[in-house]
Amino acid sequence: MSALAAAISIADLRRLAQRRLPRSVFEFIDGGAEDEVTLADNRAAFERIRFVPRILNDVSAPDLAADLFGATAAAPLVISPMGSCALAWPDADLAIARAAGAHGIPYTLSTMANTSIERMAAAAPGPLWFQLYVLEDHAFNRKLVERARGSGYSALVVTVDLQAGGKRERDLRNGIAIPLRIGVRQVADGLLHPRWALGLARGGLPVFENVHGLFDEGTAGLTIAARVGENLDAAFDWDRFQRLRDAWPGTLIVKGVAHPQDATRLIDAGADGLWISNHGGRQLDGAIASVDALARIAPVTHGRVPLILDSGVRRGSDILKARALGATAAGIGRAALYGASVGGEAGVRHALAILTDELTRAMKLSGTPSLAAADRTLLA
Ligand SMILES: Cc1cc2nc3c(=O)[nH]c(=O)nc-3n(C[C@H](O)[C@H](O)[C@H](O)COP(=O)(O)O)c2cc1C
Repeated sequence: MSALAAAISIADLRRLAQRRLPRSVFEFIDGGAEDEVTLADNRAAFERIRFVPRILNDVSAPDLAADLFGATAAAPLVISPMGSCALAWPDADLAIARAAGAHGIPYTLSTMANTSIERMAAAAPGPLWFQLYVLEDHAFNRKLVERARGSGYSALVVTVDLQAGGKRERDLRNGIAIPLRIGVRQVADGLLHPRWALGLARGGLPVFENVHGLFDEGTAGLTIAARVGENLDAAFDWDRFQRLRDAWPGTLIVKGVAHPQDATRLIDAGADGLWISNHGGRQLDGAIASVDALARIAPVTHGRVPLILDSGVRRGSDILKARALGATAAGIGRAALYGASVGGEAGVRHALAILTDELTRAMKLSGTPSLAAADRTLLA
């Protein structure tokens, strides 16, 4: 049996990824900010929630389909935007997007993806959303949004929790802090992980195709990521949000929402969806666990817009818990990237199959015939 087929949980895929990747790359993916309190709490918060299962309901064919902004997804899932994925696997963005398409769920392309908006649109079989980091160069922001629109992306996701880069101490210690310096340690690490190194050698150092042209042509690869980091627009505010709303006629989702007051104000300001997230514990350490934030936000938004929840989803039962608390869908970040790190598209398909199988099982065992039937009464 291949290592991939032997992986029966997301935790197994994580362990395989840890083995295959150099430590600096694995920790870049896996780690969080500062003391990783929020990273750990994202999991702990899911683990604190208990089901109060129902019985004697016909659960012979649980219905996993979810309505997401007028389109039907085969499962209540969406791929969270992730930058720099090609560090883990050549063309990881395409691998993840193809697996998402095969599973009938949307894929969100990051501003900091290694694949351009256009190249992804040409290759991806399923619905695409584009995630925008707001940069100080407003003309460049507009260009990104126009490109996404021109390429048929159905939703714009504006990430608002990156007013500065989180302090990720593993990255600083591992020297993966951008700009990437290939030093003795990285070379040695590569030699210890020859298959990974071969992939990187074939694919080359990751290039950030969407922000190509933002800076001097001489700037390449991860140096651009550093420049983008310095050029994040920390002045982005409610007025500017309104202008973005006016400029994008399609579905607009705001990612990085945690506070109920922001949630209601965003809906009043015209947001079509809220993405409740603490960036997988990679930004503000000490921020509330996302699923706890969801439990506070859903009661005040009253289903006015779809809520997406990410950060810490590792089990199908987490997705059911999120649904019961009022989320329409769960965003999948690292779980997909662990899969990609181990086996490219096949690895991501495997990760999504694990999650949907576990979700189906959790629905049956909790007596939940359809996602619509999952509400707070299902939880202790
Ligand atoms: C390697 C990596 C890169 C990420 N890059 C981005 C990004 O470019 N834009 C963004 O909005 N979020 C980014 N995120 C955050 C994810 O979209 C998502 O919020 C987070 O991964 C969810 O938590 P989970 O990994 O526990 O599922 C990134 C996360 C990881 C792990």
